[in-house]
Amino acid sequence: MSKVVIFKGSPRKNGYTAKLLEQVAKGAKSKGAEVIKFDLNDPGIRGCQGCFYCRTHDGCTVEDYLHPMYEAINEADAIVFGSPIYYYQITGQARVWLDRTFPMVAGLKDTFVPRHPGKKLITIFVQGSSDPKIGAEGIKFVNDIFKTYGWKLEDNIHYCGTSHNPDLTMFDELSLRAFKDGKNLVG
Ligand SMILES: Cc1cc2nc3c(=O)[nH]c(=O)nc-3n(C[C@H](O)[C@H](O)[C@H](O)COP(=O)(O)O)c2cc1C
Repeated sequence: MSKVVIFKGSPRKNGYTAKLLEQVAKGAKSKGAEVIKFDLNDPGIRGCQGCFYCRTHDGCTVEDYLHPMYEAINEADAIVFGSPIYYYQITGQARVWLDRTFPMVAGLKDTFVPRHPGKKLITIFVQGSSDPKIGAEGIKFVNDIFKTYGWKLEDNIHYCGTSHNPDLTMFDELSLRAFKDGKNLVG
């Protein structure tokens, strides 16, 4: 059975990011995948402690809410990450999580070796401004890091303009695209 792991970087339980991630989950489940979700706003999450254990070991010394994600990622066929844009970047919650994904590579910068390459990847971003350039750099930053991990970007959804008169027709189209993305992760 295919395994899909979803990371939700928005604190809003029913916001646009959450809804798009849910569509990916539904699509994957419709093809029989097992879906595991991590809410990056969980109060039980600690930041990276900078111990460098993961430079020489495939694991993390921080025993918290996120700890089970390492096994979940190792076993996963696909990773799905979603975050709103806050101050031109992913949310603080998602940024804390990103540091904790350091075990995905061995070694030090310039000699990074992916430990769990080949996962399919879907990324989802949502922003208040209708100008996609606002979030573009933050999105590139995250997608580039995932590339370093050897994860293969299958689709990147960027929904813009939630602050004023959101384009709900566009949102419906992207929701359908997210559902199809989820289906395509399987098989
Ligand atoms: C602290 C904070 C900072 C934000 N910064 C930006 C920003 O830099 N650019 C932007 O377009 N929207 C910004 N927004 C708006 C969010 O991206 C927008 O509300 C988005 O729809 C939230 O996603 P969600 O519905 O999934 O929670 C910010 C919102 C908050 C709360």
